Amino acid sequence: MWYDLAVRAVGCSTLVTCAVGMLPARGAVEPEAVRDAVVAWQGDAIVYAGERRGWEGDVDEEREGCTVVPGFVDCHTHLPFVGWRDDEFEARLGGRTYRDLHGEGGIARSARMLAEASDEDVLSFCRPLLAEMLAMGTTALELKTGYGLSVEAELRQARLARRLSEEAAQTATVTLLACHAVPPGMSREDWVKTACTELIPQADAEGLVDAVDVYVEDIAFSVEDLHRVAEAAAAAGLPLRCHADQLGPSSAGEAAASLGARSADHLNHARPEAGTTLARAGTAAVLLPASTLMLRAQPPPVAALAGAGAALAVATDFNPGTSPVLSMPLAIALACSLYRLSPGTALAAATANPAWVLGLHDRLGSLEPGMRADFLVLEGSDVRMIAYRPGHNPVLEVFVAGERVVGEP
Ligand code: NIG
Ligand code: FE
Repeated sequence: MWYDLAVRAVGCSTLVTCAVGMLPARGAVEPEAVRDAVVAWQGDAIVYAGERRGWEGDVDEEREGCTVVPGFVDCHTHLPFVGWRDDEFEARLGGRTYRDLHGEGGIARSARMLAEASDEDVLSFCRPLLAEMLAMGTTALELKTGYGLSVEAELRQARLARRLSEEAAQTATVTLLACHAVPPGMSREDWVKTACTELIPQADAEGLVDAVDVYVEDIAFSVEDLHRVAEAAAAAGLPLRCHADQLGPSSAGEAAASLGARSADHLNHARPEAGTTLARAGTAAVLLPASTLMLRAQPPPVAALAGAGAALAVATDFNPGTSPVLSMPLAIALACSLYRLSPGTALAAATANPAWVLGLHDRLGSLEPGMRADFLVLEGSDVRMIAYRPGHNPVLEVFVAGERVVGEP
């Protein structure tokens, strides 16, 4: 039956559409703040987002003193996983390092917990976490594998990720972190070969994944391995991502860019010159300040990356080891205080650019006519309030596809 969907409109003190032009937006973008604004939508799509005086229709509801922004897009998480590793956190405070816990603890331990859990155990562990993310404004996110460590277990984790994404209120993509840790009892070379010749083609044939990721580190995989995985990902037509230069320098960020990767993530030990390589290649620098905080690591050369014109994204890296943080408002706050991004730049890096990283930018990440009506009503009339109160949730209401899914009018 054909019928007219009503147009709905909300008035607000401040609107930041994050419509920042060609994506990914490069460098330290400052999205414009529109004062006294209206957001209007019909069905699931925005029809207007701008100054109130430019809107000729009715305004159904007012959000005085509030700011409307696009839903946050968390472009780097390690969900689905099951079980925490809080004892490893405490051990690190006592002097152990992430590197020396690797094996008995770390990724291999999360892999054991995943193997021991039933599908239903995993889903019931993850569902409330996704709900908590939604309440903190995440309306789209990445899910990753990487706790499988065998072809079958990786495919299982990817299927669980797809199931979660079907159930969740959020839009979710799935990344195959084919090379995260070397499976116990296997050589690195053998696992890379298996990942390239069996895992990536099978995951692709089943339509289970949207991108491929590699963890390059002295305790994990090498830049040469990254080259091999890049070839297999390209053969499957899947974009490449890379955990690069997190614990030590390997120039993986630059290598990923030279391979045309969609993003290089972490970058704590990247050279300042990497900014030019990333900018030229159009590879986004995904900043993960919560894992920097939890590992007490050095910050990446953010000013150099931004100054060279690299595209920036900010994400949580939500995982049970290095970042048990699922809050995008906190990730934004940390990006400001630890990396000195301005609150506006951090917001663009948490919406429009990460939507591009996940390949969702045709509908998500900014509030413009035709885009999906995924937006947040935030406390306060300036986006700097997100960054100013770390640990506080400024999200009052969440709309997904034009429907309020969190909060009260
Ligand atoms: O992005 N360092 C590699 N991968 C994750 C941590 C995974 C884990 O410890 O479970 C990260 O920090
Ligand atoms: Fe990660």
